Parts: sequence; C-alpha cells; structure tokens
Amino acid sequence: MNKVVVGAQWGDEGKAKITDILAAKSDFIIRYQGGCNAGHTVVVNDKVFKFHLVPSGSLYEGKTCFIGAGVVILPEYFEEETKALKEQGVSLKGLKISPLASITMPYHTEVDGYSEDSAKKGKIGTTKKGIGPTYTDKMARIGLKVQDLYSTESLSEKLDVILPLKNKMLEKVYGLQPYTKECVMSLCEKYAEIFRPYVCFDWQEMLEKFKRDKATILFEGAQGVMLDIDYGTYPYVTSSNAIAGGAATGSGFGPCMIDEVIGVAKAYVTRVGEGPFVTELTDEIGEKIRQVGHEFGTTTGRPRRCGWFDAVTMRYGALVGGLTSVALTKIDVFNGFDEIKVCTAYKDTRDGKIYKTYPTDVYMHKYLEPVYETCKGWGVDISQIKDYNKLPENCKKYLAKLEELINVPIDIVSVGPNRDQTIFK
Ligand code: GDP
Ligand code: IMO
Ligand code: MG
Repeated sequence: MNKVVVGAQWGDEGKAKITDILAAKSDFIIRYQGGCNAGHTVVVNDKVFKFHLVPSGSLYEGKTCFIGAGVVILPEYFEEETKALKEQGVSLKGLKISPLASITMPYHTEVDGYSEDSAKKGKIGTTKKGIGPTYTDKMARIGLKVQDLYSTESLSEKLDVILPLKNKMLEKVYGLQPYTKECVMSLCEKYAEIFRPYVCFDWQEMLEKFKRDKATILFEGAQGVMLDIDYGTYPYVTSSNAIAGGAATGSGFGPCMIDEVIGVAKAYVTRVGEGPFVTELTDEIGEKIRQVGHEFGTTTGRPRRCGWFDAVTMRYGALVGGLTSVALTKIDVFNGFDEIKVCTAYKDTRDGKIYKTYPTDVYMHKYLEPVYETCKGWGVDISQIKDYNKLPENCKKYLAKLEELINVPIDIVSVGPNRDQTIFK
C-alpha cells in the first residue's frame, strides 16, 4: 500500500514522526513539495533529528529517499542539514535529488525578507526562506532547476533571459542590488558541488524500477492542508500544494500510485505566522498548551499560536486533502487538563449564522467565533500506554468525539515524541 502523509491543519502536526514510523515498512520515500520552510522533528530513543529538505524517512539504512521535482531547495541550507545529519550518524547513502527540483537563489530569500519586513499591511509571516519567490519564478518560467547546474551552456543561455528581467525587478521594485552573470555562474558552480553526490539523473529508470517491483512508496508532505496554495487560508498560505494531490505532481508518479492518505493532526491546533485562526487561545490556556506542547517553530523558533481542535477546518481538510485516515498526535499534552474543548461549528457574530462547512473567505473570519463542545479530561499520564484499549475512558471518548465530527477514522494515536510512543488502533 502506497501512502501519502499530509498535514491536516496549519503544519507542524507531527508529520515527520509519522513518516519515520511508516518509513520502516517502505522502500521508497519521497518528499514532494515545499522547501526548507519545513521543520520536521523525529525522536528516536530521546535522540532528536531535525529535517527540513531531507525526507524524514532517512533514518533507516537501505531505503531510497528522493527529493522530488515539486520541492524547492536552498543549497546552503541543504548543505548544513546534510552535514548536521551526518554528524549525528545518519548515512544518507540512499538520498537522491530530482534534477527537476527548483533552486532558491539568494535573490529569492532577499525578496522574501524584503516583502515581509517592508509590509505595512497583509504581512504573511513567512519563514523568509525564499519559498514564495522561488515558486513564483518557477511558475513564471524564469526559475533555475538542479539540472541547470551541470550544463554551463544551458545555464548561460537561461541566465541571459532571466537576469536582465530579475535585475530590473530587484533594483526598481525592491531597491535591492542586481546580480552579475559571473556572480550567479560562480554561485551555481558551488551549488553543483553541494548537490553532486545526490543528483539522480536516471530518476526515470529509478521510478520505473520501483513501480515494476511493486515497491512500497511513502510520500511525505510538508506544511498542511490549511497552508495549501489553492485550498488554504489564502493569502496566508505557503506557495505549494500541500494537499495529497501535490504528491502526484511533485513526485513523478501519477495519482493512481496512491492508495491511502494519512492526515496528521494534533489534538489541538497550532499556527505560525499570520492569518485567521478561529479557535486561537490568547489566554493562559493557550500559553499552557504552548509550554506543555513545546510549541515553538523548528525552523524559525517563533512561538506557535495555539488553540482548541477545530473540527470545521478538519472536515474541510479531510475533504480537500483527500484523507482516508487520521494520525492524531500530541494527545498527551492534555494529560493535566480538566476539560478539553472541541470546536464543532463557527458562529457569525453579525447575524448568528452557524457554519458547519468551512467558509473560505478568510477576510470574514474576524466575525466568526467558535461553537464549542466540552469533553472531560483524563487526569493521568498516557504517554507510556501502548495499547488503545488501555487508554482512559475519557481519552477514548475524546477520540470518538473527534472521529464522529470529522468522519474519518483515527487509526494512529501518538502519545509522545518518541517512535515507540505510538498506538495503532
Ligand atoms: P511536522 O512539521 O509536522 O513534522 O511537525 P514538527 O516536527 O514541526 O512539530 C511536531 C513536534 O511535536 C516535534 O517536536 C515532535 O517531536 C513532537 N511530537 C510529535 N508527536 C508528538 C506527540 O504525540 N506528543 C508530543 N508530546 N510531542 C510530539
Ligand atoms: P512543516 O512542514 C508551519 C507557514 C509560515 C507562514 C506561511 C508562509 O514543518 O509543517 P513560507 O515561508 O512557506 O512562504 O511561509 O506558511 N509555514 C509553516 N508553518 N509548519 C511549516 O512546515 C510551515 N511552512 C511554512 O509560518 O505562515
Ligand atoms: Mg514542522
């Protein structure tokens, strides 16, 4: 069974932990979208591994891990990440990069930083890793791909088209310094060396072989459905398709290669950056969730905004994300809570209208308030429980309530960051 792991909320749901677990029984693990805006943490026997671009299934020997064409790569960041992982003893022998993946150039990060810092209104709160500008250039057909680094002729021809346009924009629109062709060529030489051990020029044969051998394929998503460029809380989103559909475009395999879509969701909701968040808690309960759940960004260290579980966005995420099951993480964070709220609907404070389906015009969300149902806490530590039936009754009731609200089975329950703190229902 080939599975896609997607974030079902606004990212940081614990996708990496679930990917790592499922990778044990997979042959081929593909990261298909996003870039180093992603911060993915895997904990094995209390040892912490941080991934950004490298697939989170890379901790097992003998697996092939592929960074697909849908990913954007910041070369220096990739270099640092691979170095750090190797220092931790991760071999990365099976790591491969698609020659069609896009490259984030220094001007992309500069433009991202400039746009964020100078925005008086409509700031997105990006990770400033150049993600939006890289995808913009890709769509505008003026981006650079990994394969361009290995042909001086193609690169030179491309830069003659890209640079005059790029420099005009950098100088006239952003007030930034232009780039000479020599400078970009020499940067690209450096990038070619960074990627050289990993670039997979025979990726078509590789994909065909895995297909022919009926290998088990795991597709790893970054970000989450509510950050998807088409279906998320636009414009407060990232610039790629974080929904399961992104796996088909970003990997090189078609949609028929996907059997299951596992949506990873936290037992509550977090969000980093700007944008609407109906169940956000700005009080001491939100602070308690942040502290107990260690809700600080892996990539930027920013405190994550926290709130109660939102079944409205989750139902929407299950639909557009194409979820066939849910992995619910961080339920242990509620160990010391007397009561836990779940948002079942939104109420429009202007006219009392109740929304059970997700209203996509996010500019109206300031008028919405959550309608809550309250569940009782369980008052004991569940983080060492391995069997679903041994979970406290109130915990099982909470899970049943969520399943009923989102109408998708919760097949995996995660009760701690470690690999072995996982319950398969
Ligand atoms: P991702 O971006 O979706 O992979 O998630 P992150 O790695 O950014 O954030 C999830 C954080 O929660 C990481 O620090 C994980 O180690 C941690 N985590 C994952 N699952 C659980 C869980 O069930 N309980 C607790 N307490 N922590 C978890
Ligand atoms: P993982 O894979 C949480 C958010 C940013 C910002 C918006 C756009 O770890 O779940 P970008 O830099 O992508 O242009 O920023 O998206 N964002 C994430 N939030 N987890 C992530 O990744 C994110 N990647 C981007 O905070 O609001
Ligand atoms: Mg993350």
